[in-house]
Amino acid sequence: MVYFDNAATSWPKPESVYKAMDHFSRQVGANPGRSGHKLSVEAERIVLNARELLAEIFAIDDSARMILTFNATDSLNLAIKCLLRKGDHAVTSVFEHNSVLRPLRRLEQQGIIELTVLPCTKEGFLDPADVEKSIRPNTKLVSIIHASNVTGTIMPVEEIGEIVSKYDGAYYMIDAAQTAGVIPIDVKKYKLDLLAIPGHKCLFGPQGTGGLYIGEGLEEIMPSFKEGGTGSLSEQDVHPDFMPDKYESGTKNTGGLAGLAAGIEFIMKTGTDKIHKHEKALTEQLICGIQKIEGVTMYGPQDANRQTAVVSINVEGLRSNEVGYYLDQQQGIMTRVGLHCAPLAHRAMGTSPDGTVRLSMGYFNTAEEVDYVCNALQKLAKNGI
Ligand code: ALA
Repeated sequence: MVYFDNAATSWPKPESVYKAMDHFSRQVGANPGRSGHKLSVEAERIVLNARELLAEIFAIDDSARMILTFNATDSLNLAIKCLLRKGDHAVTSVFEHNSVLRPLRRLEQQGIIELTVLPCTKEGFLDPADVEKSIRPNTKLVSIIHASNVTGTIMPVEEIGEIVSKYDGAYYMIDAAQTAGVIPIDVKKYKLDLLAIPGHKCLFGPQGTGGLYIGEGLEEIMPSFKEGGTGSLSEQDVHPDFMPDKYESGTKNTGGLAGLAAGIEFIMKTGTDKIHKHEKALTEQLICGIQKIEGVTMYGPQDANRQTAVVSINVEGLRSNEVGYYLDQQQGIMTRVGLHCAPLAHRAMGTSPDGTVRLSMGYFNTAEEVDYVCNALQKLAKNGI
């Protein structure tokens, strides 16, 4: 079996992640920060550790600014819906995931915001000059995907950060769903006001974990998304307004956060450089292998320096779902086919409505697996199904 669907969720996880989750479930189990007994204190320590590790890996000085969420979609919705107000303008790109496009479109359709969706090349590149041209006096948010989940294309996020930072009242968010954990992200260097991350992809945590970094001062203009129990200021029937409690209420996914912390510790121990280098080598090998196969079209940059370990393809004469089904059923290769929740990206690539077959690798994939996948594609392109 070859798992090439790491862009959807990374798998397998490091052994330490399973152990940390098992330890929480069997030995701790309590609700963090609520009851004050030993196990509750231990659960709170697990939550704090995950928050601090997330802050450390993204160079965030104050870990209270890292809000724990349940996935990147949760983080992006929190940011978009709490920040934008009537009359605001938002800027994004056609290569965004629906987790950005859909909340923005809804606000636009409700007449709350004006929205600019910038074009990209068919390889997925966004021109920073277009971002600058799109900024208006009422632009409140520029939200850009760090790397495409369809083609892996890495966006010029640092240049865009420079541009947005020149405009008062405009805030900059990146959706790091495909990069957090594998490409170094420094909130200061990128001039980020908001950073949305999933825990379950390159950070090796389990599903149901994620985070949103909220930059200094933003909490004053962003009301909370939900109110409820926080275990703090319980004498009040109004929600606390300090970080991180302002945006977090209800019981957390503590077992998941134990796993996420172990995933981040694994990355720190292994080194982002080593992880990135391995994934880059696999990407290069896969791109070179596929380029040699007649009848297979590849999309995106086709350059391991300009994309993450994600490669989208189609096989001549076959629909993407036929290829995905064949690879899964006949070859034991797991991929994701179709539109990858990024409809506008596929339109820009010319692959709508059928989409593509997405091959996405992770740290635990091997060169032998890449060879195996290339051979399977070669056979399929030559002989059909
Ligand atoms: N956004 C994830 C993907 O692209 C789920 O597969």
